[in-house]
Amino acid sequence: MKYISIEQLDPDKDLILPCRKNQLDLLKEFTGNITPDFEGEHATCQTFYGKAGNRIYALGIGEEKDAVKIGKAFQKLCFDTKKYWKDTMQLQGTVLNAEELQKAIIGLEMGTYQIGRFKTEQKAISETTIQVTSSGDIAGPLDEGPLIGATINRIKALVDAPANQKTPEYLGKWAKESAGLNKYKCTLLGKKELEEQGFDAVLAVGRGSENPPVVVVTEYMARPGDGIDIGLVGKGITFDTGGLSIKPSQNLHYMKSDMGGAAVVLGVVELVARMGLNINIVGVVASAENAVDSKSYRPGDVINSYSKKTIEIIDTDAEGRLVLADGLSYIIQKFQPHQVIDLATLTGSVVRTLAYSAAGMFTSDSEMATKMSDIGNRVNERVWPLPLYEEFETDLESDIADLRNFSGKPVAGAITAAKFLQAFTNEHKHWMHLDIAGVAFGDSHYAKMKSSTGFGVQLILEYIKMSIKK
Ligand code: BES
Ligand code: ZN
Ligand code: ZN
Repeated sequence: MKYISIEQLDPDKDLILPCRKNQLDLLKEFTGNITPDFEGEHATCQTFYGKAGNRIYALGIGEEKDAVKIGKAFQKLCFDTKKYWKDTMQLQGTVLNAEELQKAIIGLEMGTYQIGRFKTEQKAISETTIQVTSSGDIAGPLDEGPLIGATINRIKALVDAPANQKTPEYLGKWAKESAGLNKYKCTLLGKKELEEQGFDAVLAVGRGSENPPVVVVTEYMARPGDGIDIGLVGKGITFDTGGLSIKPSQNLHYMKSDMGGAAVVLGVVELVARMGLNINIVGVVASAENAVDSKSYRPGDVINSYSKKTIEIIDTDAEGRLVLADGLSYIIQKFQPHQVIDLATLTGSVVRTLAYSAAGMFTSDSEMATKMSDIGNRVNERVWPLPLYEEFETDLESDIADLRNFSGKPVAGAITAAKFLQAFTNEHKHWMHLDIAGVAFGDSHYAKMKSSTGFGVQLILEYIKMSIKK
């Protein structure tokens, strides 16, 4: 959709009218002083008709506490009513501040997301121009909102894509195409390069699949020659069967989303490049398919890794930490980023701990933690801290190798996974791990089954924006 700024509303044309709870004066004005059966509760919508018979979509944005999730209200409105929209639509933006307006636009864009991409009959998508009134400068939201919303939709499509289409090579191709269009560098390390360079953990995880593993390396340098400010690493398991430690079949189909962390990395790098932010970032996606085959790596195997630490495999379903171990070692050795953040749908344990409400956040850097928490609350993609206590290290001791990939205990799984990753960070002082297993994929108002949420794109993008050196 297109968004343009206008001075004044045309009272005879269709209009989206955001209403705060019990503040319905404008609505009454536009509808000829009716008494509406509508209070303005968050994410409620009711259609009224203006004096000229035009539609007025009263959209409840609730109370002050609901402001962070205002995007959800607009997303729902767009999804529910878009089919009635004309080529141009007005948005009464004077009641929103710039931050709310940006969220509103991201929400509206997300409301156009088409989940049924593989249906033989596709819904026609009409292009709408949204004319926005405002009480201040809204160039920023009008510029950035549509970009962010559109990239989130691309990321959601990637996570929702089925694994027979979405192979590690497909993720690589996606990144290459995006890099070409948006002018950043993208290097693909295929099986041969991974073997030459010693990505043994990535190779082990991918061994059982006919779709070979790929490590995607993206670089966006606003200040060439300077160091890397932020390195991002994403878990890109395109399908997680569990390997020989096979998962139960119930809900197994959802394991196509086990590349949710990789998707965030790809989306954020694309956005940073499109927005031309003044930052140097590298994004690494470690991608493989964890399949069942006679060639699959086995429980009990000892494998090597990019860091040269040897790993005893206890459970082949703990594969995410293996590909991330190589991704982390690689990014830290090769690029020495000032900060490193990894994102991964890493454990069922974090889902049991925080359900669908927040990502698990692990870091020893309290400044990063505070900043990430604050931003998470602001963009409504919350993170909650979990500890990296030293005593969990014994859980990862192996008798025969440097480390084992699973403690074998049914407790603190998200923490031991994070401790495993930490062993591959070369004691980096500014590393953070986000376990997004519970939040990357979930229920929505528009799908029967769980689907991608896009969680993490706004969080990390905002974190990067806040890290730009003035
Ligand atoms: N991909 C899963 C984690 C996951 C679970 C993501 C639920 C999204 C929803 C991961 O690879 C996994 O299987 N983890 C195991 C590790 C265990 C075997 C040590 C887990 O958490 O159960
Ligand atoms: Zn697994
Ligand atoms: Zn996994």
